Amino acid sequence: MKNLKHKNNSIIIAPSLLAANFANLSHDIAIVEKEGAEFLHIDVMDGVFVPNLSFGPQVVKSIRPISKMVFDVHLMIIKPERFIDDFACAGADYITVHFEATDKIVETINYIKKCGAKPGVSIKPKTPPESIEHLIKMLDIVLIMSVEPGFGGQSFIPESFEKIARTRELIEKHNPFCKLEVDGGIYTNNVADVVKAGADVIVAGSAIFGAPDIGQAVKDFKNKCKLQ
Ligand code: DX5
Ligand code: ZN
Repeated sequence: MKNLKHKNNSIIIAPSLLAANFANLSHDIAIVEKEGAEFLHIDVMDGVFVPNLSFGPQVVKSIRPISKMVFDVHLMIIKPERFIDDFACAGADYITVHFEATDKIVETINYIKKCGAKPGVSIKPKTPPESIEHLIKMLDIVLIMSVEPGFGGQSFIPESFEKIARTRELIEKHNPFCKLEVDGGIYTNNVADVVKAGADVIVAGSAIFGAPDIGQAVKDFKNKCKLQ
C-alpha cells in the first residue's frame, strides 16, 4: 500500500462513553479530555437495530456544555434519518449512521450535512467495504465495526484487519481526507496493528473507561499509537 496520508497525521483516540460510569459522566469525561483524547465516542442504541439500549439526544445535550471534545455520535438505530436533527441540535459534531439501517443512505448523509454535522457511515463485520465505495466521496468518516454492534467488552474479530486495509485503499482512492475509524475490542495489545492496517481514529470503551486508571489508559493508547 502506498501514499498513506494517515501515517503523517497523529492518531485520534475516541473513548467510548458506553463503558463510562453513568453516575459520574462529567468526572470520566474530564479525565479523558485532560489526557488529550480528541473525540468522545457516543453509542446510541435502539434495541431494534442492535439488541441493547443506551443514550438519546438528551444525554448528548446535557454533556455538551461540560466538554470541548469532538462529539462522535454513532447511531445504531433503525431508520436513523428520523433523529439526525435531534442529535445535530444536541451538539453532535460527527453523526455516523449504519449502511444496513436505512434505505435512504444518500439522503441521510446529505441531511446530516444540512444540519451542520459531519457525516459518517458505519458497516457491520459481515458487510464488505466495497458496498459503501460509492459513498466515500461524500463522507468525513467511515466507521468499521470490529465486533458485532450492540455491546462493549467483546473480542476484536481478526478478519477486521484485512477489511480495514481494504477500506484504507478505497479512502485513498476516493477521498483521502475522510477519516477511518475502527470500533470494538481494541486494547493496548492490538491497537498498533489496527493503526498499521490503516485506522486513524481508534474507539476504545472497556480498555479506557473500564481501566483502573482512566487517565493512564489514554496515555498508554497514545504511546502505542505512535508509529515506528
Ligand atoms: C459497540 C459500540 C462500541 C463499544 C466498544 O456496539 O459501538 O463503541 O462501546 O466497546 P469496547 O471498546 O469495550 O469493545
Ligand atoms: Zn460505537
